Amino acid sequence: MKLYVIVPLCALFTLTQQAPSRDKCACELTNSEKAFPHDKLSTVENDASKCNSNITPQKTLELESLLLGLERRLPRLQEDVSMLEREDDGQLYAVLSLYVLENEMVEIKQLLDRLNGTTLGHQRLTADTTKQLKDLRAEMQQLETYDTLQVVKRQQDNKQLKRDLDQCRNRLYPIAQPTPPQRNCPHGEFRNITRVRMHTQGEYPDSYKYGAWGQDPKPEAGKENWYWLVMLTSSNIYANYVRRYSSLSSLIVGVSTPGNVEIHSSNPTTNTIQGPNVVLYGEALYYNCYNQDSVCRFNLTTKAVTTLQLPKGTRYNSKGNFCHLDECYPYTDLDLATDESGVWVIYTSKQDFGNLVLSKVEEGEPLTLGQTWRTSVYKQGVTNTFMACGVLYATRYVNKEVEEIFYSFDTTTGVERFDIGVFINKMSPNINSLNYSPVDQMLHAYCDSHMVSYKVLFS
Ligand SMILES: *[C@@H]1O[C@H](CO)[C@@H](O)[C@H](O)[C@H]1NC(C)=O
Ligand SMILES: *[C@@H]1O[C@H](CO)[C@@H](O)[C@H](O)[C@H]1NC(C)=O
Ligand SMILES: *[C@@H]1O[C@H](CO)[C@@H](O)[C@H](O)[C@H]1NC(C)=O
Repeated sequence: MKLYVIVPLCALFTLTQQAPSRDKCACELTNSEKAFPHDKLSTVENDASKCNSNITPQKTLELESLLLGLERRLPRLQEDVSMLEREDDGQLYAVLSLYVLENEMVEIKQLLDRLNGTTLGHQRLTADTTKQLKDLRAEMQQLETYDTLQVVKRQQDNKQLKRDLDQCRNRLYPIAQPTPPQRNCPHGEFRNITRVRMHTQGEYPDSYKYGAWGQDPKPEAGKENWYWLVMLTSSNIYANYVRRYSSLSSLIVGVSTPGNVEIHSSNPTTNTIQGPNVVLYGEALYYNCYNQDSVCRFNLTTKAVTTLQLPKGTRYNSKGNFCHLDECYPYTDLDLATDESGVWVIYTSKQDFGNLVLSKVEEGEPLTLGQTWRTSVYKQGVTNTFMACGVLYATRYVNKEVEEIFYSFDTTTGVERFDIGVFINKMSPNINSLNYSPVDQMLHAYCDSHMVSYKVLFS
């Protein structure tokens, strides 16, 4: 009996000796699930972000703008070819059309080459990316099997529900369409222009080949009859002052009573007027400033100059000029214009393949660039432009005596026309600047030091 007691006691003793100390506790967990592969997830994440950085919006933008360029160029070419066929009379007109066609073909070829390069690159990228995406999808599907609580699945269901709800709502409340802007055109539609109404060489006959002149459409009180004149007095490129006349007759006889308003005594220097296509509006001169892709505004009252930077890619310093068959007009990159609604700037840019671009200049403080319109007319086939009633008009050289207003772009409707067919009788072969004056509906031209005006006829 005694022995029986001793043995369990002994066993108890050895057991207590083997047991772990009381502050340590081990516990074995048996998990029926597979371990989550974190390393796999981070690889997938890396691959996805690599994929994202390969495909950028710029890549599609480049392709889109190339296609847009082509889309606009091709109907133009077709139209010009049929015009050439109609006018194949061996005259200058046909030669001019041929020249324009050749220019267009060269540009189209360049577009196609660039498009080819881009598409090849895109094809490679698409193939690579498609494979990467397939792999990623497979991996993600595998990873989803770890989502035993179905969190991801529920999230996806919720997203779908939210989408459906939004669609439902949008159908109930359709988004209001913006109303088109009102056309500011008190005299009706542009029809024709008269023969020369006024012609003078003014104060400096045959002295300055390039310049601009006109009337301020938004004059200060008491200056309603004043005229202004800007002549490019340095190298036929630069000017540093505005000359003012108190009436048309004083301009004609060459008596400048108020005299000059000077921007700076040096010419050229910072803020010098560069190129002839300037305008005066609200006692301020708007022009392309020296060595910049900017519009400058010179306040004639305070003599302060405000600068408006044009978009990147805008051609300047005689890189995007008006041209005709024989020559381009130097430093005509920026053409400022006025009409019933204020000041506009017409220019061209790299991204627009040399086509005319039109922007509204918002005259407030600070000076800002308003809405922009892109056209399909090639700037080098145009000799000048002007605005009337929110419509852009472009001219081309026909011969020494005649210029044609051949093109229009309506900013209200976006409609372009290439069949305007209004002819300008010239006093001198080259129109260096052309601007419409909404106060008296006159078209003012500066041609090789001649100041000429025409009355615009509306219907
Ligand atoms: C496109 O580019 C490739 C490679 O540079 C060239 O072989 C091919 O002839 C080009 N195609 C066209 C239509 O220019
Ligand atoms: C414009 O007016 C001229 C006369 O000045 C006329 O010969 C010509 O036919 C008119 N053109 C149009 C398009 O009405
Ligand atoms: C010119 O400056 C004056 C004084 O600051 C200002 O009242 C006027 O609006 C300015 N004109 C333009 C066109 O900015």
